[in-house]
Amino acid sequence: MTKEIVVSGIRPTGKLHLGNYMGAVKNFVQMQHDFHCYFFIADYHSLTTHPNPADLHVNVRTVLAEYLACGINPEQCTIYVQSDLPQIPELYMLLNMHAYKGELERVASFKEKAKTQPDNLNAGLLTYPVLMAADIIIHKAVKVPVGKDQEQHLEMARTFGNRFNRIYQTAVFPEPFAFNYGTELVKVPGLQGGGKMSKSDGDNNVICLSDSPELIRKKMSKAITDAGPTEPNTPPSPAVQNLFDLMKMVSNHDTLKHFTDSYANCSIRYGDLKKQLAEDMITYLNPIRTKIEDIYNDTAYLGKVAKLGAEKAAASAEQTMAEVRAAIGFQKFYS
Ligand code: TRP
Repeated sequence: MTKEIVVSGIRPTGKLHLGNYMGAVKNFVQMQHDFHCYFFIADYHSLTTHPNPADLHVNVRTVLAEYLACGINPEQCTIYVQSDLPQIPELYMLLNMHAYKGELERVASFKEKAKTQPDNLNAGLLTYPVLMAADIIIHKAVKVPVGKDQEQHLEMARTFGNRFNRIYQTAVFPEPFAFNYGTELVKVPGLQGGGKMSKSDGDNNVICLSDSPELIRKKMSKAITDAGPTEPNTPPSPAVQNLFDLMKMVSNHDTLKHFTDSYANCSIRYGDLKKQLAEDMITYLNPIRTKIEDIYNDTAYLGKVAKLGAEKAAASAEQTMAEVRAAIGFQKFYS
């Protein structure tokens, strides 16, 4: 049986953190065995915020090295840089002809940008869902591992693919759907007492995969707690619950039990909890952290991986584009 096609992209916005790993990359590593996977670094998408050239390159290189360090295997799946595929902007342009201003303006992520960055409301932002649709349907993907915040973009990808099929009387594009193992996505909380681990709440809120042991200890020591339990068996505050949730992910069962018990009987010392969590976090991330630096500095290896990925992805994209061009009515006057 042929394996189903999976596509997912990650914007190169800097170092990956534990939340990215638990919520996305760890699943990708699993998916490479079960599906025919394309994973790419969405550098075109990142241009909506006008990064400077040096930063752009470093960020792409960082994400590539970190994906590989996490266990994404370029032999098992196809990992590539989006801007290596000229077929993607080609499909994006063609899909744009049937994407309407009204529907694009109604997309939640665009409305959000209209509020937060009214001075840079460029056409790239408006058509972001069209580019994302091109990324996905160019490989005829049916499964897209993404978080809830991308649901609407995925719905647009189905709309644009279906619309193309209908207008040009073809069946070139199947419908892609969001996919994740299990029913609930793991929520990785941050260290600053808020919701999920995210850089928008500051550098101390996140543990990056490349953080040194010293830095992890420092960040953990600054993690938010509360005044401590005063009565036995009361539920922990959200900030303390976050630390228990992190402990569930990186510590062993006995350690977790020790601290939840000592919380329940009010003997807990948060300093000890944070120290233990830091050490377990360091142990958990050590195999990844030690690989990142080596891979990041191995220019020859990165070049080999990116070239192989670009070749495999281009073969798939070119096949789809041949069907797309024919459906539209482009016919060569020469061969
Ligand atoms: N928009 C996605 C995000 O912000 C990134 C992305 C771009 C993507 N193209 C994609 C994800 C295609 C899945 C499939 O996270």
